[in-house]
Amino acid sequence: MRKPIIAGNWKMYKTATEANEFVEKAKGLVPNTDNVDAVICAPALFLNQLVTSAQSSPLQIGAQTMHEENEGAFTGEISPVQLADLGVKYVIIGHSERRQYFNETDASVNKKVHAAFANGLTPIMCVGETLEERESGSTGQIVETQVEQGLSGLSDQQVADLVIAYEPIWAIGTGKTATAEDANEVCGTIRKKVAALYSQETADKVRIQYGGSVKPANIEELLGMEHIDGALVGGASLEVESFVKLLEAGS
Ligand code: G3H
Repeated sequence: MRKPIIAGNWKMYKTATEANEFVEKAKGLVPNTDNVDAVICAPALFLNQLVTSAQSSPLQIGAQTMHEENEGAFTGEISPVQLADLGVKYVIIGHSERRQYFNETDASVNKKVHAAFANGLTPIMCVGETLEERESGSTGQIVETQVEQGLSGLSDQQVADLVIAYEPIWAIGTGKTATAEDANEVCGTIRKKVAALYSQETADKVRIQYGGSVKPANIEELLGMEHIDGALVGGASLEVESFVKLLEAGS
């Protein structure tokens, strides 16, 4: 069966000192990862130090975004080659905040997903609808388009190895969680789309996370759903205690 993956997305929070303290404290508390993948996606500035301090612990380190080119004159950007060289394992691609504030599109998401695989990184590809789209009944169509365009040109094996994060934009940082049933329904729609584009076997392998106000109080119900294989967590990943509780629920 699919191994749950709990990934913290720290966004633009924490100083280097705070990040180090978190990992030093968390690495001894992370439960046995035969049952759950534990990932922290930290600001790029801290990736080097965190990969080093998390070494020989079950905690894995991911980035929050990257450029699609391996190198070039792109001031301020970070390349997949640079991430892989540091020992980073995962990279979030197309988070709704990147789409909203940094003009990322399904086309650029697709380029980045390919670039991540080309460099041995596992992409966590984010999809999700706005409140307006949900209220107009177009959630299914929106996420299906994001999945189809984001995965375009990938092999079956790559899709099976990928992580997709379903994050309804209206549930991010708002305290409003989609009900477990609603989240499961959309994750099921995503899996069905993957089956239609690839095969049922591939769809059965791809891991689909839910994200949006996940916390220790709601994680168990979400993880109990058929199509939800983990969580992408913002606020509740910032404190060691709550992050560890999320991992315990997944293990
Ligand atoms: O990447 C994480 C999501 O944006 C969810 O953030 O858990 O603070 O709602 P949140």
